Amino acid sequence: MTQIAQILVAAGKGARAGGEIPKQYRQIAGKALLRHTLEALSALENKPLKQVVVYAPGHEDLLSSAIKGLEVTVVPGGATRTASVKAGLNALRDTSPDYVMIHDAARPFVNAEILNTLITALASHSAAVPALPLADAIKYIDNDTVGRDANRDRLRRMQTPQAFRYAEIMAIIDALPAEASFTDDIAIAVNAGLSVAMVPGDERNFKVTYPSDFAKAERMMTPATYTAIGSGYDVHRYTDGDGIWLCGILIPAPYTLLGHSDADAGLHAITDAIFGALADGDIGDHFPPSDDTWKDAASDVFLKFAVDRVTKRGGQLQHIDVTLICEKPKIKPHRNAMRTRLSEITGLPLSRISVKATTTEKLGFTGREEGLAAQAVVTVALPE
Ligand code: CTP
Ligand code: MG
Repeated sequence: MTQIAQILVAAGKGARAGGEIPKQYRQIAGKALLRHTLEALSALENKPLKQVVVYAPGHEDLLSSAIKGLEVTVVPGGATRTASVKAGLNALRDTSPDYVMIHDAARPFVNAEILNTLITALASHSAAVPALPLADAIKYIDNDTVGRDANRDRLRRMQTPQAFRYAEIMAIIDALPAEASFTDDIAIAVNAGLSVAMVPGDERNFKVTYPSDFAKAERMMTPATYTAIGSGYDVHRYTDGDGIWLCGILIPAPYTLLGHSDADAGLHAITDAIFGALADGDIGDHFPPSDDTWKDAASDVFLKFAVDRVTKRGGQLQHIDVTLICEKPKIKPHRNAMRTRLSEITGLPLSRISVKATTTEKLGFTGREEGLAAQAVVTVALPE
């Protein structure tokens, strides 16, 4: 198996990005930029033998919290990018991998396709780089004066990772004068006359450079969702007994509710509302009354199941609003206990759970106290 190492250069100052701490350690979507990038690099099919992070002396604390729990080698970098790259390559002397990929810490959107294509290109070339064409017109300028056109067709933008055969690039670097400094690492290969393959770059693989790039990166890391709304309705009939289950709590009463399970109309309405938001049938499809498993079942099992279906879809239950329609029992004294129980079952905070009640002014079956109804509306965030 081809042995591959990855060097993440992160020893820069991040001057153009501004901010309180250097850009590679800033949090984006809850994680340090550098950590996002390391995780993205791990998408390489041929698992990396080793990941080396080149950091700037003085950033030790920022670095150690950014890489907590990850298996990486760390090595201090230098004043120029080339010095930092050299430090990274030196750290691999004992390992001596077949290939090495050198990547900017500030490019968290590198993907498996770029990584794998670069490695494939190294079978026929000494080095490989992701390159992109330019869409805008390109012109030379003289101070503020617009001059002649540059031939855009002959220009490409170079991204990272840039990939090399380790022994070749190491030998070239060793032969360079100490003060040598190149814009990027492919320039070193080109300067030494190596054959360099261009593979397709990716616009998404941009380098976080300016202050506004953080918001852009955050948006790109936040998966697109839409809000699904579901409604549910359930009715159970009163019968003789000594209490009813409603929204997951037992309310003592000289009657009960008739049903196959515990007849908790509140939980059933909420459960059905969730199935509605998922367009996933109804409670009877998932828990058929013909199935004796659910006889006298506590209905929190149904609601937990529905919440679990949301999670399995990559979604999130966001809000519950349930209305209990009955002349008896009085709901208000139990409302907060119900909300607390719903919070325990669903994991939602209390601020996202509403329990309301109304009578029907003695009208209809609830007015005649023949039964109790519940209706629920839920909102669920689902991936696009
Ligand atoms: N880099 C490095 N060592 C240096 C300079 C840069 O390891 N002496 C790294 C940076 O940390 C970055 C990558 O090279 O991950 C690309 O450089 P750039 O985007 O220019 O980052 P900075 O130099 O940190 O930013 P700026 O130029 O805005 O100061
Ligand atoms: Mg720089």
